[in-house]
Amino acid sequence: MNDLVVAMTGASGAIYSIRLLEVLLALGRTVHLTISPAAAQVLDLELGIRVDLANFNRDALLPSDEQMAEDSRLSLLRARSGAGAHAVSSVLSDSDISRGRLVYHHYMDFTAGIASGSFLTEGMVICPCSMGTLASLAGGMSSNLIQRAADVHLKERRKLIIVPRETPLGAIQLENMLKLAQSGAVVLPAMPGFYHHPVTIHDLVDFVVGRICDQLGIRHDLFQRWGT
Ligand SMILES: Cc1cc2nc3c(=O)[nH]c(=O)nc-3n(C[C@H](O)[C@H](O)[C@H](O)COP(=O)(O)O)c2cc1C
Repeated sequence: MNDLVVAMTGASGAIYSIRLLEVLLALGRTVHLTISPAAAQVLDLELGIRVDLANFNRDALLPSDEQMAEDSRLSLLRARSGAGAHAVSSVLSDSDISRGRLVYHHYMDFTAGIASGSFLTEGMVICPCSMGTLASLAGGMSSNLIQRAADVHLKERRKLIIVPRETPLGAIQLENMLKLAQSGAVVLPAMPGFYHHPVTIHDLVDFVVGRICDQLGIRHDLFQRWGT
């Protein structure tokens, strides 16, 4: 069993989730993906990636080199970040992402396996995690599949990693994070370090994605570790 759940919600930082998917798929994992409507909006605004949540097409989310060369802020961002036209760093190649399996679930599909505790997974990551989803989780809401799957991971005492992005943080948001941390979630803010001497945006993204992988117990060399 190597199934993981990845949920994208409508906080800024869609590039983190794209990179996380690329890495997990390259490492041969089965990823159950669900995307909120707000996340779809941010994907378009930040990266020029348009996903149709009702008729999901993997190629729209993880564009090929050719697609990226033609269009999108993603290509621009990656070119600026020094990653060239390639979607992935030197540790991975585009063909690698076909190693794993991507299973998409509509965000309102409560019949999906991941809505039940009897469906076994190795954990769930919400990346990026909006303050809205954070509040819903802290309040025990299950009004969409993302919230339900997260609630299931908490009640089953499975790994739940939340990657919030907001600044500054208000007291209610901090309280919600504390509540979730006390309930067993890992709160891993999209807060890259600088001690690995990042040069590109890609380096910053890989730091956060690498720290998520660390929490999942997945070996990687996405950044140079301190002391090595
Ligand atoms: C371009 C854009 C950027 C946003 N950035 C953030 C953000 O960084 N953090 C956040 O909590 N909400 C952010 N929002 C607001 C959320 O998308 C909004 O609260 C939404 O209802 C969250 O829904 P969801 O949790 O179901 O995805 C952003 C919205 C847009 C359009």
